[in-house]
Amino acid sequence: MRNKLVVGNWKMHGNMAENKQLLDSIVAAINDLHTKAQFAVCVPYPYLSSVQTTLRGTSIHWGAQNLSQFDKGAYTGEVSSGMLNDFACDYVIVGHSERRALYGETNEIVAEKYMAAQRAGITPILCVGETLEQRESGVTEKIIDEQLNAVIKLAGIESFTKAVIAYEPVWAIGTGKTASPQQAQDVHVFIRKKIASQGSDIAKDLSILYGGSVKANNAKELFTMPDIDGGLIGGASLVADDFVAICRAASH
Ligand code: PGA
Repeated sequence: MRNKLVVGNWKMHGNMAENKQLLDSIVAAINDLHTKAQFAVCVPYPYLSSVQTTLRGTSIHWGAQNLSQFDKGAYTGEVSSGMLNDFACDYVIVGHSERRALYGETNEIVAEKYMAAQRAGITPILCVGETLEQRESGVTEKIIDEQLNAVIKLAGIESFTKAVIAYEPVWAIGTGKTASPQQAQDVHVFIRKKIASQGSDIAKDLSILYGGSVKANNAKELFTMPDIDGGLIGGASLVADDFVAICRAASH
């Protein structure tokens, strides 16, 4: 049985005062929701400590948006999974398309980061997805297959018992262009079948989130699709009312 999960990805937004206001409003609105759905926010590193202080004791989880594939060493500017553990992170996003496109993260590096998260007991949210060009040339499944294969090769299929996948078509991220519920469902089924081909029970329990312009007004129809287990929310996670509405949409 899979429960819904909604995760906010703040990206490089926020400041101390705004974060506090945003989280206070979110906690006030959803802390007492009677639901099996789970909620989390993935925040910039410098705010992990204060976010931990604000959210500790609430039903909302927190995490980071990236991590180093290495455990320690001379890696100026990097943050290890052990450091994330110091702030009790439950989740870390790995392989977001912005990391892949802007920071040169290959499928292999993403797989190493996924492993690093799991070594520390943090649940990786593994992002996969195709660009518009790839979709239009009919290679969506091939691209996602390769993205998943790198992780399966390094971490093994069993690792998906402690992971979340987020399908995020690159053309839908921050563009206001959402994949239709059926388009997303089709890719989610592809991903679930791929995992099932090596572990059917693992696939049944695996949470596959959709991300890419999820908003208050489209969340519900996306979340009612049988293989969409929640969402990874960028822009709308920065507006308390919008994020709360999306969390509520996952709660029915
Ligand atoms: P968006 O971003 O909701 O602003 O499209 C989603 C994401 O990048 O995770």
